[in-house]
Amino acid sequence: MEKGLFITIEGSDGSGKSTQIALLKDYLESKGFVVLTTREPGGTNIGEKIREIILDKNNIEMDSMTEALLYAASRAQHVAEKIVPALERGEIVICDRFIDSSIAYQGYGRNLGDCVRIINEYAVRGCMPDITFLMKMDPGVGKSRIKEEDADRLEREKLEFHQKVYAGYEEIEKIYDRIVGIDATGTIEEISVQIRSHIDRVLNEK
Ligand code: TYD
Repeated sequence: MEKGLFITIEGSDGSGKSTQIALLKDYLESKGFVVLTTREPGGTNIGEKIREIILDKNNIEMDSMTEALLYAASRAQHVAEKIVPALERGEIVICDRFIDSSIAYQGYGRNLGDCVRIINEYAVRGCMPDITFLMKMDPGVGKSRIKEEDADRLEREKLEFHQKVYAGYEEIEKIYDRIVGIDATGTIEEISVQIRSHIDRVLNEK
């Protein structure tokens, strides 16, 4: 491959992203690829510190724009320090959440609108996913899988917020061809078969 492949996985909290990321990593490694898995917010030392501030359940006074800028700041560091270098080495990067999380959670969920996309276009400087899997599941189901005492600041938001986020994801799925909707209510195996078939297609096209 000329350069690496950038895969992102998106969806509501509790939609089973981590399980699928681990399975996809194994699959690609078994085919001989070098795979880097990472996550947002976080993925770098600086990003993990920003993550702590954003998700701290005691930071109830956080302004929505501060939140959007912190996610974008974490992403800028992640792209520069980790994602771009790995892609330049020809590796496959699988990232748990990326720009679409900001568009869905801050743009739609927090009603900040299109400025979130613009801020993030500065943050990623052209480094966009080749393919994005959107794990589709009723946000109420995902939310019920998370114990209240374990929930972070975002997960503690009302169901209404998570429904707005989900509606946002459905909107952007229509806009961007790189976003592939996956029915996340299927079994782990059914979902992973679907994801693999899309990845095989993308690898063949490369
Ligand atoms: P994370 O801990 O990875 O949650 P999950 O395991 O459910 O994916 O993500 C933390 C939270 O941050 C999650 O509720 C989604 C939210 N988020 C945003 O609001 N905007 C963003 O840009 C990102 C990356 C995450």
